[in-house]
Amino acid sequence: MAQHLAEPNATTILSDDASWWRQAVVYQIYPRSFADGNGDGIGDLKGILSRVDYLADLGVDAVWLSPFYPSALADGGYDVADYRDVDPRIGTLAEFDELVEALHARGIRVIVDIVPNHTSNLHEWFRRAVAAGRGSAERERYIFRDGSGANGELPPTDWLSVFGGSAWERVDDGQWYLHNFAVEQPDLNWSNPEVRADFVKTLRFWADRGVDGFRIDVAHMLTKDLTEPLPSRAELELIPRDGKHPLIDRDDVHEVYAEWRAVFNSYDPPRTAVAEAWVDSARVPLYARPESLGQSFNFDLLLADFDAAQFRDIVTSNLDLAALSGSSSTWVLSNHDVVRHATRYGLPKTRRDESGKTLEKAGNDWLLGGGAESQLDRERGERRASAATLFLLGLPGSAYLYQGEELGLHEVADIADEQRQDPTFLRSEGSEIGRDGCRVPLPWSAHGASFGFGADGAHLPQPGWFAEYAVEREELDPASTLSLYRRALALRHALQGGEQLGWIETGRDDVLRFTRPGGWQVVTNFGSEDYPIEDGANVVLSSSGATDVVRGESTVWIAP
Ligand code: GLC
Ligand code: CA
Repeated sequence: MAQHLAEPNATTILSDDASWWRQAVVYQIYPRSFADGNGDGIGDLKGILSRVDYLADLGVDAVWLSPFYPSALADGGYDVADYRDVDPRIGTLAEFDELVEALHARGIRVIVDIVPNHTSNLHEWFRRAVAAGRGSAERERYIFRDGSGANGELPPTDWLSVFGGSAWERVDDGQWYLHNFAVEQPDLNWSNPEVRADFVKTLRFWADRGVDGFRIDVAHMLTKDLTEPLPSRAELELIPRDGKHPLIDRDDVHEVYAEWRAVFNSYDPPRTAVAEAWVDSARVPLYARPESLGQSFNFDLLLADFDAAQFRDIVTSNLDLAALSGSSSTWVLSNHDVVRHATRYGLPKTRRDESGKTLEKAGNDWLLGGGAESQLDRERGERRASAATLFLLGLPGSAYLYQGEELGLHEVADIADEQRQDPTFLRSEGSEIGRDGCRVPLPWSAHGASFGFGADGAHLPQPGWFAEYAVEREELDPASTLSLYRRALALRHALQGGEQLGWIETGRDDVLRFTRPGGWQVVTNFGSEDYPIEDGANVVLSSSGATDVVRGESTVWIAP
């Protein structure tokens, strides 16, 4: 393999480039499942600290930490009891500072997760709201209403929570509070200036500690119009999502983000943010505008099959959307909410209706059916996952990677019901399997109590096959997924230039080829027949190992 590009220096310090985020590789850490420093079975900051060299060797530009705040874990930490502290099971603020320093010393930025739509029911505010009773100022921080029915014994509306069941829960004095997610996640009232002020305080708290950016959880749901009479669920569904819907993607949420933007821009370099906004694609640029959060997740690849036409459409439309806002696009194949992409790509195609809309969350049917090995082609899934990842890493914009995907790790299907933790499983009465299978603690070594995750067990059960994917093993194997990711990230740094992309016609429906400024080319073969490469092409990376052809279900990178 012709490889004459310089290896990057892993221990550079942070650049002061304010647009570092535009084409960053961001690695998502789910702290409870990354590495356990004190042997209690739960991942923690000490564990992450012990692995900062691993992150530097991998070559990521930033780390996004999913919530590590005090939480009763009703929703994996997305139920925050205190936004300005570290869960004692995960560490301390002093350890957080140490971690930021250690990452920065290796040139890695730090992004933290902000969960503004709801708090935990254990948050001091909510406990005071319950205690203070109806009509109190404390209740005004949340969304309390009297019930319907003769004696208010029925919920105010028939709305459903995203996790299943009613979106309202009754408290002892008979009032009801709104929770769009779990019962333990009461929605905040964003019409209340106190709520707004408190989040500004939280953003400053972390930015002052050196945090470089924020990932904003359910960014499209904060503000609500709850003018009485409230619509029914059926009425709600008929209301267009054009910025005036009572609950979702309201235009006025950007007033909140304009205030946050002023906070971000008061730092040097400005702090960044990325919206988790599940909205119509035409409305994504509103979140990605520089006056709003500045960037927004694009989840289209999570719903796509391994298919050339789908991939090309997604790339084209998302680059157009990014151009509309002036932001860069983002690309995601896996995160803590979906079935890992190595597994998705090894399963039969996702069920779709005639218009192409998915009829299931990719992989969900398979998991619900017990996760039969006979339906999963593991090797094929990994082969396609590597091809898709190299395709994605060649695109302009930022790439968000999820811990474990660099090992080619699969979803864990065999988790006993009583070991499942995800509220979506518990609340949907088994119609959704939940997200535990992608949150199983990582295998660092092939042996030992929890495959090197910690000195003792792991909070979710790790299957025996984790040994094959252990970091320790893959590090020694030049043909492993980990080795491929490391080479890819190093080369990406060397090859990355401007944010343009030009398609090169391949004469085949199942082969995509594009070029980037400076002459970097990416060729992905989604089919099964080899695709020839011109003699003399400088192939610097190949997911199949072959450098003279692009094998079926593989990607090659060609350097100028
Ligand atoms: C986001 C998170 C998800 C969480 C939900 C509620 O979608 O990614 O994990 O359950 O918000 O906070
Ligand atoms: Ca621990």
